[in-house]
Amino acid sequence: MVFEIRHPLIDVKLSIMRDERTKSKEFRESLDEIASLMSYEIFKDVGTYPAAETITTPTGVTLPKIKLNNKIVLVPILRAGIGMVDGIRNMIPTARIGHIGIYRDEVTLEPHEYYFKLPKVENPLVVVVDPMLATGGSAIAAISSIKKRGYNNIRMATLVASPLGIEKVTKAHPDVNIYVAAIDEKLNEHGYILPGLGDAGDRIFGTR
Ligand code: PRP
Ligand code: URA
Repeated sequence: MVFEIRHPLIDVKLSIMRDERTKSKEFRESLDEIASLMSYEIFKDVGTYPAAETITTPTGVTLPKIKLNNKIVLVPILRAGIGMVDGIRNMIPTARIGHIGIYRDEVTLEPHEYYFKLPKVENPLVVVVDPMLATGGSAIAAISSIKKRGYNNIRMATLVASPLGIEKVTKAHPDVNIYVAAIDEKLNEHGYILPGLGDAGDRIFGTR
């Protein structure tokens, strides 16, 4: 299933990110804040349980501490996915972080994996994060790679997606819910999303 997370605060911050005049610092901060806001929807149905550990309120009432049912593992697709990690981890400080390095060949647009490391966590909810879902190749490869290691409770969180990318990922991995802030119009001839926000990795890390 695809969840398009529409919210005025996200729309305002996303329009700052889309602006070509926005500098790297404000671009990163906006992405960070949107990722935090998106967490509200991504983890809406995760569920909680009352732990054995208790807390006492200032009025002297003792209650069980509330914990999330699932252990969360965030997996940013390098590089740009890193830009969404802190925003989500601020909401879930116990989340563990894996990394998957994938770059898209500039000519063929095919994904190439160059790094993979996941923390050892039993039955986690894995959330793959990457601000851009263009042809869908990187997301499909990342999810396949994670599944190959035996994980099967996987979600994908992205900022801007193309209709084609969404279609391809949902076809390849129908069990993976996709959470997205904006589904844009189309891809250009170089595989960039239109209107989009340009090269997310370059804008986050100031590499161009
Ligand atoms: C970008 C982006 C995604 C991918 C999306 O990464 O961060 O990972 O392209 O494109 P796709 O859906 O067509 O696969 P890129 O390969 O530019 O690497 P970078 O993050 O290191 O810049
Ligand atoms: N990767 C990006 O960073 N931007 C796009 O528009 C497409 C792929």
